[in-house]
Amino acid sequence: MKEKTDQNDYKGKKVCVTGASGFLASWLIKRLLLSGYHVTGTVRDPGRDAGDEKKVGHLWRLEGARERLELVKGDLMVEGSFNEAIMGCDGVFHTASPVLGLPTYDPKAEILQPAIDGTLNVLRSCKKNSSTLRRVVLTSSSSTVRARDNFDPRVPLDESSWSSEELCERLKIWYVLSKTLAERAAWQFCENNKIDLVTLLPSFVIGPSLPPLLCKTASDVLGLLTGETENFQWHGRMGYVHIDDVALSHILVYENEKAKGRYLCSSTVVDNDELAAILSARYPALPIPKRFKKLDRPYYEFNVSKLKGLGMKFRSIQEMFDDCVEALTNQGHLSSVIHQSTKTKNLTPTS
Ligand SMILES: NC(=O)c1ccc[n+]([C@@H]2O[C@H](COP(=O)([O-])OP(=O)(O)OC[C@H]3O[C@@H](n4cnc5c(N)ncnc54)[C@H](OP(=O)(O)O)[C@@H]3O)[C@@H](O)[C@H]2O)c1
Repeated sequence: MKEKTDQNDYKGKKVCVTGASGFLASWLIKRLLLSGYHVTGTVRDPGRDAGDEKKVGHLWRLEGARERLELVKGDLMVEGSFNEAIMGCDGVFHTASPVLGLPTYDPKAEILQPAIDGTLNVLRSCKKNSSTLRRVVLTSSSSTVRARDNFDPRVPLDESSWSSEELCERLKIWYVLSKTLAERAAWQFCENNKIDLVTLLPSFVIGPSLPPLLCKTASDVLGLLTGETENFQWHGRMGYVHIDDVALSHILVYENEKAKGRYLCSSTVVDNDELAAILSARYPALPIPKRFKKLDRPYYEFNVSKLKGLGMKFRSIQEMFDDCVEALTNQGHLSSVIHQSTKTKNLTPTS
């Protein structure tokens, strides 16, 4: 791979972000453009998606996009599809991966293959471009750490922990399995091919959605705020993190020469009930459910000292939900549950 140079040299260089139109990638691109990077984003079908206002209109409205953003084709399931996008890049942020609830017909084809084979497909393109490429940042997930039943709940989980593949299969938690296997495959490939890989493991991402069509996790949050228990129920105990902190963390581990290995990226871990209590008190106008079914899941905390050691400071649950609720309100997603006349008053956080 390319020789390391001074840290500040990276600003203004060309980087690739896969899955550019997604929730997390859109915010990452916003931050990269604000930092002066030239960004090549991949979407599945630029012919269709690039002209689709709902899919990519928000990207073209980002500051710096007209001058420094390019959108090209990249499909995880098409071999060599990322060659063009990655060519000449100093770095690659691989975020694209299926984020679904339950697969409709075949978990292998719908979730596992695009996540695992797709990641290897992207990394093969990285290998072809190793003369200019400095580092790859893979967006993994905190779920690759916590889905296991053999740990001491008094010791916070850190990056040395890996989810149990056997448990994932038994519980049919295909998304968690896909992220775990994809990250493991990435480490193996990068070790074999001397690619500088760093992985970021965000917990549940909360914050404004730049894409007008809400992704799976943002829809689950909207459901919670509008009184549904169904989709949020099964999240159980969960870590939460602000979307802007996730984007900044990607850039931090990309730019910091000392960054190495895996990085958990999470602000606070809470149970569903605790979260609902915080949110009900803060937004009394919203019909947030009071109780969730108790799930038989182990208690855990996350140890995020590794990322904090690079200088990351995380925003609180209150801050991430304030920004999220404000954006959902402005986008009209909450209007059906709040009476127009009381909307402004009651959505002002009460503490
Ligand atoms: N949201 C969270 O709470 C959270 C937490 C931890 C980690 N993550 C990780 O963050 C990443 C982004 O997730 P997100 O929440 O932003 O969800 P998202 O909005 O659904 O983004 C997923 C992206 O992956 C793309 N993608 C899926 N299958 C693809 C394929 N076969 N070929 C090319 N692109 C494909 C999607 O493209 P289309 O729009 O064309 O479908 C979309 O751009 C994922 O790796 C996810 O595992 C998310």
